[in-house]
Amino acid sequence: MKIVHAASELFPYVKTGGLADAVGALSGTLADVGHEVSVFVPAYSAVLAHPDAAAAKVLLRLKIEMGDGFLSGDVRAFSPRKNLTLYLIGREEFFERKNPYGTGTRDYEDNAERYIFFSKAVVETLRLADIQADIVHCHDWQAALIPALLREAERRHGLTLAVKTVCTVHNIAYQGVFPAGTFALTNLPAELNGMDGLEFYGQMNFLKGGILFSDRVTTVSPNYAKEIQTPEFGCGLEGVIQTRADDIVGLVNGVDTAIWSPEVDPQIPARYSAMDLSGKQACRAALLKECGLDPAFKGPVFGMVCRLVEQKGVDLVLANRSFFKQNDCALIILGSGDKRLEEAVRALAAELPRKVCFSGRLDERMSHLIEAGSDFFVMPSLFEPCGLNQMYSQAYGTPPIVSRVGGLVDTVVDADDYPATGTGIMCSPDAAGLGAALQRALRLRADKPRMATVQRTGMSTDFSWKRAAVAYQNLYRDSL
Ligand code: ADP
Ligand code: GLC
Repeated sequence: MKIVHAASELFPYVKTGGLADAVGALSGTLADVGHEVSVFVPAYSAVLAHPDAAAAKVLLRLKIEMGDGFLSGDVRAFSPRKNLTLYLIGREEFFERKNPYGTGTRDYEDNAERYIFFSKAVVETLRLADIQADIVHCHDWQAALIPALLREAERRHGLTLAVKTVCTVHNIAYQGVFPAGTFALTNLPAELNGMDGLEFYGQMNFLKGGILFSDRVTTVSPNYAKEIQTPEFGCGLEGVIQTRADDIVGLVNGVDTAIWSPEVDPQIPARYSAMDLSGKQACRAALLKECGLDPAFKGPVFGMVCRLVEQKGVDLVLANRSFFKQNDCALIILGSGDKRLEEAVRALAAELPRKVCFSGRLDERMSHLIEAGSDFFVMPSLFEPCGLNQMYSQAYGTPPIVSRVGGLVDTVVDADDYPATGTGIMCSPDAAGLGAALQRALRLRADKPRMATVQRTGMSTDFSWKRAAVAYQNLYRDSL
């Protein structure tokens, strides 16, 4: 099949969270099994600075209609592996900035324009480069207008650009909602601007367009596919999702085992496997040392890596400060994002300097070291479409402590409820729930044989992308 992906993040070129990992691994796996895969991303500064991008050549100059005017841009292309072509949509003014989405304290004011431009440029490249896609698969709100724009371009030019379109919702909390006037920049027919189109409570909603106008809608776990049909998790789009209930499937993400495996990971100080966990001790000592804690410390080490946003349950961890005060344990947090949360976590680290360590930056290497060196991975999300870290931590023999929401339910088995198959500890998404789970973690670790069983069960679970990519392949075939 000829499969085209469009997304605003792609590992290893640009990443703020799991979207990058998911799109990078899915597209790479599909290419490896022989499909002809193209991936479109904006030519952000980070992407252009990546050594691979030096091979990118300008393929096309673009003139993109944006409302009453036109904006110029270009497309660079290169092939980082067999069967895979990356297309970088360039426009310096829009994409050559420090971060993809905002300044750190607020979103860029021209995000609507930036991603309408990106989406239109993808469609225009499909036309000019005559790509003839079987499937165009767009990810999240930044690319969600593509199905509607693509069908409109086909109508205008009287040709077929893609047989079928797929839209994946990685997180319904991010919808791309902008003032109603933004619609004019799309140059879509006015009838798409109503209640059955992009209009959303007097504004314009990009993700709604993806949900309504793509042939198939997917999200990243079966449980989240059910949750987003309810007001509690649908973030106002539950009614729209319900109209597509027959076409929505939840496909769990995978783990890219070339990058996230303790047997081959070059970013950790010692390699190890389920057969021989001894290297994990070396990783633990290195992690403690790097955090300025005693490398010989014997108590449990709790690790956390996440975007610091409410979704990730950071407040629940903060509400359990007495647990960390009273018990002989360490807590290591790597994350950046919301300034309020950064300050609160920093304050906790200042209050308990010999127990709590906080790094407020994006650090890929450190994230691997925390997965490998911790005894437990803490992920008490309030909602979680899929979540990757709880799968990574299982692969590294670090049982996750997770709340019973979203994809966490589909990927973790509670060790007390199911002693024979348990891989982690599950709790309700509230402070008391997490508190009880932390106590259970202490008891689990004190029981060495049981802890080892839970670690080994997690390490031998198959989370590979091969399994996940087969599910997408079947979905594409079925839609065609
Ligand atoms: P989400 O996509 O909601 O952020 P996921 O669990 O799906 O959550 O994926 C998060 C990804 O982002 C993981 O690869 C994780 O290691 C990475 N990540 C998050 N914060 C940081 C950070 N501060 N430094 C390095 N990697 C991070
Ligand atoms: C989103 C979700 C996360 C998911 C990731 C990749 O960022 O928050 O749960 O794992 O996308 O699909």
